[in-house]
Amino acid sequence: MAAPSFGEKSYWDTRFTKNPSPFDWLLPAAAAPFLSSIQSSISTAPSPRILHIGCGTSSLSSNLKQFVTDSKNIYNVDFSSVAIEAGQSKDGSMNWRTLDLLSAEQVLELGKYVKLEGREKFGLVIDKSTADAIACAEDVIVELPYPIAAEAPEGGSQATANIHPLAILSLHMAYLTLPGAKWLLLSYSSSRCSFLTSQDPDDILVKMGVLEQGFTDPRLLWKVVKEEALGAREETGGTSGIVARPVVKHTLYTLERTSLKIVAK
Ligand SMILES: C[S@@+](CC[C@H](N)C(=O)[O-])C[C@H]1O[C@@H](n2cnc3c(N)ncnc32)[C@H](O)[C@@H]1O
Repeated sequence: MAAPSFGEKSYWDTRFTKNPSPFDWLLPAAAAPFLSSIQSSISTAPSPRILHIGCGTSSLSSNLKQFVTDSKNIYNVDFSSVAIEAGQSKDGSMNWRTLDLLSAEQVLELGKYVKLEGREKFGLVIDKSTADAIACAEDVIVELPYPIAAEAPEGGSQATANIHPLAILSLHMAYLTLPGAKWLLLSYSSSRCSFLTSQDPDDILVKMGVLEQGFTDPRLLWKVVKEEALGAREETGGTSGIVARPVVKHTLYTLERTSLKIVAK
């Protein structure tokens, strides 16, 4: 049987249409260790504005309200309009936006919209298994120089390249955040952020030739400042008493935005 297409919008639209009830991946939205990490990150974030990426139907959106004085400082985004419409109708006090995180055009529009509101960029990105889903997407074919980059890209398109979706996501998140912003990334994988930390050439997502043609290196944008194992619910069961099963450990990465300026064409 083919694996589910976690990187495809049609998969998520179908899933959320069939089951619109709140559903949380990896950890319950009220999991204390996760909430306490959010609390400590928001207390040092350069802005109280939170970008909750790939919110799906997670109850975490509502739980984030305890960290802000104004619910309008929370932006829940997802490329599934089904999930966003459900969230909007449940609690319109927060911002909800249908957004493909891999689309430069849509990310630039969000940046403009936020600016038009006269507000500053985001100080905290919350990502509960969204980078996991995005890592399953196909490489994105882009024109270089990329329209979102460390220096204003000049000239017309000179080349195209296939870029790994996590490299695109990192760059887009860098564009939307302030220096010193945190990205709390919860993943089932203990190597999800190796593209930012590993010295192994196989882990490097953007090769030198592509960097030279105008794509910014994700390793210049985000530093992994903390990596911790979070235990998921301990499961017990069986008909003849308690059966201990191994506790599943997920990894919570705290990434910090560097001061490298990212601009749009
Ligand atoms: C594994 S689910 C996690 C949902 C939620 N964060 C939670 O903890 O339950 C991944 C989410 O990412 C969203 N997603 C996947 N690719 C996306 C993309 N390119 N842009 C925006 N959202 C995306 C999906 O629609 C889905 O809601």
